Amino acid sequence: MQPRACGAQNGVVNAQQPENDPGDGSPVDHVFNAGALAGPLASSDGIGELAAPERVTELGLRPSNLGQFVGQPGIVANLRVHLGAAQGRNEPPDHVLFCGPPGLGKTSLARILSEELGSELHATSGPALDKPRDLVGLLTSLKRGDVMFIDEIHRLPISVEEYLYTAMEDFRVEMTIDSGPHARVLPITVEPFTLVGATTREGLLSAPFRARFGLIERLDPYPPSDLELILHRAAGILGIGLDDEAAKLLAKRSRGTPRIAGRFLKRARDRAQVAGVEVITGELARTTLKSIGVDASGLEEMDRRILRCLAQHFPKPAALKTIAAVIGETEDTIEDVFEPHLLRSGFVQKTPRGRMISPAGFSVIGMEPTDLSGDTLPLPFE
Ligand SMILES: Nc1ncnc2c1ncn2[C@@H]1O[C@H](COP(=O)(O)OP(=O)(O)O)[C@@H](O)[C@H]1O
Ligand SMILES: [Mg+2]
Repeated sequence: MQPRACGAQNGVVNAQQPENDPGDGSPVDHVFNAGALAGPLASSDGIGELAAPERVTELGLRPSNLGQFVGQPGIVANLRVHLGAAQGRNEPPDHVLFCGPPGLGKTSLARILSEELGSELHATSGPALDKPRDLVGLLTSLKRGDVMFIDEIHRLPISVEEYLYTAMEDFRVEMTIDSGPHARVLPITVEPFTLVGATTREGLLSAPFRARFGLIERLDPYPPSDLELILHRAAGILGIGLDDEAAKLLAKRSRGTPRIAGRFLKRARDRAQVAGVEVITGELARTTLKSIGVDASGLEEMDRRILRCLAQHFPKPAALKTIAAVIGETEDTIEDVFEPHLLRSGFVQKTPRGRMISPAGFSVIGMEPTDLSGDTLPLPFE
């Protein structure tokens, strides 16, 4: 069954891309998003109506069942049990929460869940549900067994979150109508449904909210071997050849993130097309990555700007606010999109007083630790 974006008819959709929706955080995608805003984007996850042609391609690249979903074996196995057992009991599965950095497959898994159940997907996002009334409108439109997907669920306003509690637990909501002496509580029943939440910031969800999810799955960055499989599959869908050397190179530099791998592949396909060749070779992949500013460690210009900012502060740690002001990104985007990879790779360290660049971080941007007078300083981590 085709997933349907809950849309204007429910009055719950915010046509704006949430301002800090990072996509994969790349400058390229920011440009895309700006373009896509001109069209009727129904939600931040690309499920809704889409205007930008490349986003449509992203929809095509999304795996549509668990068999096509590469990697994350623990999560896939848990989902099979979760869905199978519920289907055996003929009842909707318990609510599911997917956590993890952008581009790892949370939205894909939400879609897969509804496809596997053969149910309808109603997709929205935390910032779009800014009034309890919006949520109630959406809940009452659900049919038995439907999947309601809330992206960026950590950005749901508290007032809306509280309404969701009883809907999740008892499949009912109590709307208060009027106020003062005329106030009445109107109980509304909701058809049994499965809520799927996705968040890049699990820590921002309150404990009672988290406790209402029967299954919480955390997605990890993918090993290069998984990314190679994802790239080969995507190349097949895009109708372009991809040799093993190119797949290995693109996978290695994708920071463990399928969305980034997909973006690199599309840029390489552009080059192949312009050059009139049918196969992306290692050489072509290398030229492509160079042309879009991706270095051997998979770092892009924004990562390097963060590192240069930290290098300038060295040996003092820099506060997140300072980095944001210097590089011109929001604090949320830095924390969600850029920092996880920089921390994982050991280029940056978090201290109680702020972020510090590490020796490896200095070397990756071709700098040496110096103080303001230009003298080389000893590194604190050696
Ligand atoms: N396990 C996977 N197998 C194949 N493709 C994947 C996988 N995970 C993600 N992708 C690809 O990466 C892109 C981003 O995934 P998405 O589900 O939108 O991530 P998230 O919602 O976590 O930001 C999708 O278009 C999809 O093509
Ligand atoms: Mg998503």
